Amino acid sequence: MSDSAIFKRNSSVNFSPQDLSQKEIDSIIQASIWAPSSRNLQPWKIIAVKRSSDRFDRLVKAMSEGNQEWAQNSGLIIIFCTENDQNISPKTFLNIGFSGQNAMIRSAELGLESHPIGGWDEDKVKEISNIPSDSQVAFLLVIGKEGKIDMLSKELLEKHNKQRERNPLDINFNFDEWGKNF
Ligand SMILES: Cc1cc2nc3c(=O)[nH]c(=O)nc-3n(C[C@H](O)[C@H](O)[C@H](O)COP(=O)(O)O)c2cc1C
Repeated sequence: MSDSAIFKRNSSVNFSPQDLSQKEIDSIIQASIWAPSSRNLQPWKIIAVKRSSDRFDRLVKAMSEGNQEWAQNSGLIIIFCTENDQNISPKTFLNIGFSGQNAMIRSAELGLESHPIGGWDEDKVKEISNIPSDSQVAFLLVIGKEGKIDMLSKELLEKHNKQRERNPLDINFNFDEWGKNF
């Protein structure tokens, strides 16, 4: 079980400042678009910004500050947005989340690091990649090759070494009935 890419994936802060190969990018895009979606609406708009793009640095600066230090070393930032020609509902974001999870799992299978981001300046991100104002950014996904641990700042090294945690199962999981029968 622990061999699965599901368990290899983690929100990494240890990136190497280099582009991904086109093959890696294509593979991640394919994984993203083959996610399930309600009525197969595929409500995601996916914009991949490569490290070599002149928009990359601006996009990093549009992230909330705590994310910039590690995201600036990544190879690819993917903006997951809503399609703007439909009524946006919670399912829209659920579907986009599945797409993003596929991208993260595929990245792990390819031996790449990834980290989802929930903090950004919406107006700046939209301006940088010409996203229509009636669309919404769902989340940003940072992907890259693994960096060298000795290049990390003290603060990032602490984050890198921090024990990952999950709640005990009975907090989030039950058989048959809410709050019973774990
Ligand atoms: C929607 C979403 C937004 C997140 N936003 C941030 C963020 O802005 N900065 C950050 O460092 N981590 C962010 N994370 C990563 C979570 O902190 C991380 O998934 C959680 O701590 C569990 O760790 P793991 O991904 O290594 O299992 C986000 C995760 C998700 C799913």
